[in-house]
Amino acid sequence: MNDQPLRPGALFNDEDSNRSDNTPFNSVLDARLSRRRLLGGGAAATAGVALAGCATPAADTPAGPVAQLGFTPVAHSVADTVTVPPGYTAQVLYAGGDPLKAGVSAFKNDGTDNDWGNRAGDHHDGIEWFGLDAQGKPSDSFTSRGLLAMNHEATTDEKLSSFFIHANGGTATLPRPAAEIDKELMIHGLSVVEVRQEMGLRGRRWATRQDSPLNRRITTMSEAIFTGPAAGSAHLVTKFSPTGTKARGTVNNCGTGRTPWGTFVSGEENWFGYFFRDAQDDARRNDPKMTAAFNRYGRRAGAASRHGWESGGSEDRFQRWNTGVTGASARDDYRNEFHTFGYVVELDPYNPNTLLTKRTALGRFAHENVTFAKPVAGQPVVAYMGCDARGEYIYKFVSTEKWDPADANPRNRLAAGDKYLDSGVLYAARFNADGSGEWLELSPKNPAIAAYKGFDFKTAADVCVFTRLAADAAGATKMDRPEWAGVNPKNGEVYITLTNNSQRTAANVDAANPRAYSDMKAGKPQTGNVHGHIVRLAEPTPADPKFRWDIYLFASEADADKATVNLSNLSAENDLSSPDGLVFSPATGICWIQTDDGAYTDKTNCMLLAAMPGRVGDGAAVKVKSGDKEVTTYAGKPQTPATLRRFLVGPRGAEITGITETPDGRAIFVNIQHAGENTKMADVNDPSKYESRWPANAGYGAGQRPRSATIVITKNDGGVIGT
Ligand code: FEO
Ligand code: CA
Ligand code: CA
Repeated sequence: MNDQPLRPGALFNDEDSNRSDNTPFNSVLDARLSRRRLLGGGAAATAGVALAGCATPAADTPAGPVAQLGFTPVAHSVADTVTVPPGYTAQVLYAGGDPLKAGVSAFKNDGTDNDWGNRAGDHHDGIEWFGLDAQGKPSDSFTSRGLLAMNHEATTDEKLSSFFIHANGGTATLPRPAAEIDKELMIHGLSVVEVRQEMGLRGRRWATRQDSPLNRRITTMSEAIFTGPAAGSAHLVTKFSPTGTKARGTVNNCGTGRTPWGTFVSGEENWFGYFFRDAQDDARRNDPKMTAAFNRYGRRAGAASRHGWESGGSEDRFQRWNTGVTGASARDDYRNEFHTFGYVVELDPYNPNTLLTKRTALGRFAHENVTFAKPVAGQPVVAYMGCDARGEYIYKFVSTEKWDPADANPRNRLAAGDKYLDSGVLYAARFNADGSGEWLELSPKNPAIAAYKGFDFKTAADVCVFTRLAADAAGATKMDRPEWAGVNPKNGEVYITLTNNSQRTAANVDAANPRAYSDMKAGKPQTGNVHGHIVRLAEPTPADPKFRWDIYLFASEADADKATVNLSNLSAENDLSSPDGLVFSPATGICWIQTDDGAYTDKTNCMLLAAMPGRVGDGAAVKVKSGDKEVTTYAGKPQTPATLRRFLVGPRGAEITGITETPDGRAIFVNIQHAGENTKMADVNDPSKYESRWPANAGYGAGQRPRSATIVITKNDGGVIGT
C-alpha cells in the first residue's frame, strides 16, 4: 500500500509505531569494523574497499543463463490497461471471485456473489509457481502445468466496507451486518489454483482448472497450528486454543516466498488494523508494558478497527476480533488473539490435507515477504525479511539445522519446514555510516535485550512474539519501510526495497536512508523520501553476522535534481517511484521490480521494471544534501536503459504486486492489485464513475466492477521473457 492513503481503510496499511530512539551510528563499532573504516580513503576508494573486504562470490558465475534486456521499454501511461512491450502478450488468467471448485457458479461481479471460500480471494499479492508433471505430481522442471499459490491481502475499502463485494456498497457504520462480515472474512487469505497451458482456438493459452483437486482456499477462518518457540506459550492462549498451540486463519498476507523444500511461505503484514480493543482495555489489563507492546504494534486502546468485524454479533467468529480483556482469563476471551497474527505462515500447496503452519521463530512484525539464500549442504538455511512500516527493520533468520540436499524433495514437506524454520537465531540489521553493517542477535542472550526496560524478555517466546521491541532494544536501524527482499542468484547479494517514508526529514537522514526531499504531485508538494530506494547487502556467507551495503537504486522521477534526488541517473525509460515487489528470476537472473506508488501516479500508473544488477561496491560514495544536512552514502553504479527498463505499466489505481515464472522463464505470472481503488463507494453501481473497469475492459469476465487479477505474459515467439 502506498503512503498517500485516500480513505480511512487505507490508513491501516501503513502504520508507524516505532517511537524508539534507535539511531544507526550511536554504537561503538567493533575492532574489525574499525579496521575496515581505516582502509577507506577517498569516496570511491571506500566503496572499492567494501568490495575487497567481503568474500562475495564472483559475479561471473551465474546460476542461470546470462541475460541481456532485449525488449523495447514501455512508456509512462495513465491508460486503464496493462501495457507490455511489442512482441509480448498479457492475458488475464485468474481474477478475484473466479470459481475454484466444480459446481461453483460463474462470478457475476455485481456484489451479489457468495461462496467466497470457493472462489479466488481479493487483492492478489505475492505469488509463487509450484510445478506439476503430466501425472499431476510435483515437478521442478515441468513448464506447462503447475500450481499458483498466492496471497489475497485485503479489499478495496471506504470507511468500514469492502464496497465492491457488496451489492450496494455495504454498510459503512457500526454495527456491521453479519452477512457482510461473513463475506469479508472469506475473501482474505491465500489461494492455490492449478493452471495449464493448452492448445485452444486462439493458439496456446493458459487457463485455470476449476475442478482441480489441488485448488484450495485458506481464509481468516482456516485452522492453523503454531510451531517454534512461541507455540504453547502464555502469549498465544485464547478461548479457541487454551493450550496456545492453534490459531484461526491468516490475514493481510502480503509478500511470499518459496522454501528450498518446496513449500509456500507468506507474510502477515498489516494484520493489526483488523483488531479492536475498547478505550478502557489498558486500565483493565493494568500492565503498562503490555500496553506499550500493543501500542508498538499499532493498536491503541479505543482505535477503530478496519472493518468493524468485532461488531457482527456475539458469535465467536466476530468476537475474536475484539482483542480486549472481556472475560475472567485468557482462556475465556480473545485478549491474546492479537498475538496470534504477525507471523510467516507456511503452506504445502501440493497437499490440501495439511494445515497452515505459523512459524513463530521467524518473528512477529508487519511481514512483507521471505526470501532464502541459496541453500548449501552442511550450512544453515538463511531467510531475509522486511517489516513494512515507517522506521521499521530488516531481519534475518539463520536455522539451527544444517541443510541436507535430500530435503529439496522431501516426502513430508512440512516436516522439513519444522526442521529448518522452528529453531534458529533471528537477527535485525544495523547499518553503519562507513558502509558496513551488523546483524544483531534477537534473543535474551543479547545483553541489550536482557537489560531492556520497555519489556521483560525472559524467553525465546517473548522475542518471537514481541520482536519489534527486541529489535528496538538491540539497536537496529530504522529504515524507509522495508518491503520485499530478493537474493541475486548470481552472487548471493541481498536486495531489499525501501518503498518510501513520508517521515524521513533532514533531521533524521542517515547513510542508509540518505534522502529527504520534496516532490510535486499534481501541483502539490510531498515530502520525505517520497520515491524510496533499494538497499543491497553483501555477506561473506549468508549466516555471517557482518555485511557490506550500498544503495543499488534511488527511485526518482527522471527530471528530478541529479545531485540530491535522481542519484541513479534515471531517465524516461526507467524512472519509477516506490519500489515494492522485488523478485529475481532463477531462469534469467533478471531482477524484477514492481511499484506501489502514490507519488508519480499523476504521470503514470504503477509499473514492473526489469533490471540487470551489478554488485555491492560497483558505484561510488556520494555526498547527499537534504536541506542543510549532508550525509555520505554508497551509491550503486548509475543506471542506463541497458541495465534498467520499464517492462509493464498497469491499469488505473492498481499496484503491481507478485511475480513468478515457469522454470524455463518463458511465462511470467504477475499480480495486478486493487485496480480502481480510488473509486468512491457512492459510485459503486455507476461504472461511468469507476477509476478503472479492468479487467472487464480487457474482455475478462462479467460486470464492470474492477477486480484484482493474475495475468500471464508470454513472448509471441515463445522466447524467454525479458531477453
Ligand atoms: Fe502489502 Fe508492504 O505491502
Ligand atoms: Ca512528481
Ligand atoms: Ca507489498
